[in-house]
Amino acid sequence: MKLFLDTANRDLIKKWVPTNLIDGVTTNPSLLSKEGKNIKDVLLDICKMVKGDVSIEVVKKEPSDVYKQAKEISKLAKNVVVKIPFQFEYLPVISKLVKENIKINVTLIFSVIQATLVAKLGVKYISPFIGRLDDIDIPGLEQLEKIMLIKNNYNYKSEIIAASIRNVMHMQEAILMGTDVVTIPPSLLDKIFTHPLTMQGIEKFDSDWKKLGKKELLK
Ligand code: G3P
Repeated sequence: MKLFLDTANRDLIKKWVPTNLIDGVTTNPSLLSKEGKNIKDVLLDICKMVKGDVSIEVVKKEPSDVYKQAKEISKLAKNVVVKIPFQFEYLPVISKLVKENIKINVTLIFSVIQATLVAKLGVKYISPFIGRLDDIDIPGLEQLEKIMLIKNNYNYKSEIIAASIRNVMHMQEAILMGTDVVTIPPSLLDKIFTHPLTMQGIEKFDSDWKKLGKKELLK
């Protein structure tokens, strides 16, 4: 299971990289909009900070412009993945880029059929959004489970990124399904490392140790 950070914030990436848990980063225009105007610098820094794949989304609209921008993005760094939204008009562009060996992450996937169709194109990553389906009362995890079933049945090479992960259950169930990648907002990872029982346990061990009145453990 690969763990990506779903953020464009360099401070948060810097915090998590030394844990050796982070296999990549996913960004999108909304995440980038929180990081000031020097977008290129932000992206170049992120690509240097992590060894694994960094997804950067196109913002152009016309297919020919999307193609040009995808090529530009792909040249930013070796570990760049070009993120392209699922749109009918972009399918020829995506196919062309795949043939040119450019790593593509197709984003804004909300159905099993959408995922299946892009898997046929041989893209590196497919990103189904879990939380946003839950938002409209469609169980996101059920869609993800079916997508994993189809991937495995047909042996599609594309890696599935569980995206729009909002809570621990989303993360846990995505891992149990064998999703290739989970991309997690840093705030959710923080929660996992500050589990109330872990924190209480540490306090109890500390206070019991202090009661013993010894300074060194092994002397
Ligand atoms: O990776 C996609 C993710 O950033 C979307 O998450 O919470 O905005 O639906 P959310």
